[in-house]
Amino acid sequence: MHCNGNKRSAICVSSGIEPRLAFGMIETRKIYTENCLETFKRMADGLVDMTITSPPYDDLRDYNGYHFPVEEIAAGLFAKTKPGGVVIWVVGDRTVNGDETLTSFKHAFAFREAGFRVHDTMIYVKNNPIPSDCGKRYRQAFEYMFCFSKGQPKTFNPMTEPTKSGGQKIKAFRITEAGRGNVPDEDIGREIKGERKVNNIFAYNVGTSSSGDKIAFSHPAIFPEKLVEDQIRTWTNTGDLVYDCFMGSGTTAKAAHLLGRNWFGSEISAEYVQIANSRLSEYLGRECMPASA
Ligand SMILES: C[S@@+](CC[C@H](N)C(=O)[O-])C[C@H]1O[C@@H](n2cnc3c(N)ncnc32)[C@H](O)[C@@H]1O
Repeated sequence: MHCNGNKRSAICVSSGIEPRLAFGMIETRKIYTENCLETFKRMADGLVDMTITSPPYDDLRDYNGYHFPVEEIAAGLFAKTKPGGVVIWVVGDRTVNGDETLTSFKHAFAFREAGFRVHDTMIYVKNNPIPSDCGKRYRQAFEYMFCFSKGQPKTFNPMTEPTKSGGQKIKAFRITEAGRGNVPDEDIGREIKGERKVNNIFAYNVGTSSSGDKIAFSHPAIFPEKLVEDQIRTWTNTGDLVYDCFMGSGTTAKAAHLLGRNWFGSEISAEYVQIANSRLSEYLGRECMPASA
């Protein structure tokens, strides 16, 4: 099983996912209906290749004022992540009384404190943010996608795009006697590559065009499916183990499964687990995801 590259339109060509592999006390293809801190207790250290998740952060009023223990969660994820594994943490800030919460930054510092390095601060731009006035500020249209890594990431399958000048020769643009400084002499005349890595700003549709699964929208805050696909492809290979500690409607499970990765998750709400399981039932027999736009 392999994916044929990781261009924006890459197609996963086959899958060999094993049903319900047990990783110690963890079963794959399962969402544990519990606080993720409880799931951590079931997990062996160094188990997971990648976690991709979006925490409940500034929604705490929906959880009866329950303190979100980000330090404990970051420490738990550090212990459970393989050396070279990553956590993709998708988080935005609310504005409360005209003041941004900066929760995203508090989380980033907590992950660094737990031992992770902040490998890449990516941005997820919403093509179609919810229309709102926002007073004397611009419309809020992005969230952070932090890549926290346990050391140097062991896997990186970058997404690429065509370059404008692919095949042409690198020229010197000397504007001073010392040269411009950004084209070393030895590179002059070298052929420009036809592909380059995309930059770290990713744009996705949100709302009803972000998933074809109607049932997923019974959850109020789902990931765009394409976001999860792109990140899983980038940081894992087939057969790797992907975890989501806040599984919600099961977007991570769907993408991981259809990309031939093993997966499991935690979700504290039994209602959301039911929604996710019902959403996933359509896909668990299916092998691989067609290329999505
Ligand atoms: C932002 S939503 C995640 C949505 C998900 N990415 C999706 O695509 O559907 C956060 C979820 O975390 C769950 N949650 C909150 N605290 C939790 C905890 N301590 N352990 C597990 N799940 C938790 C909430 O019930 C909520 O469904």
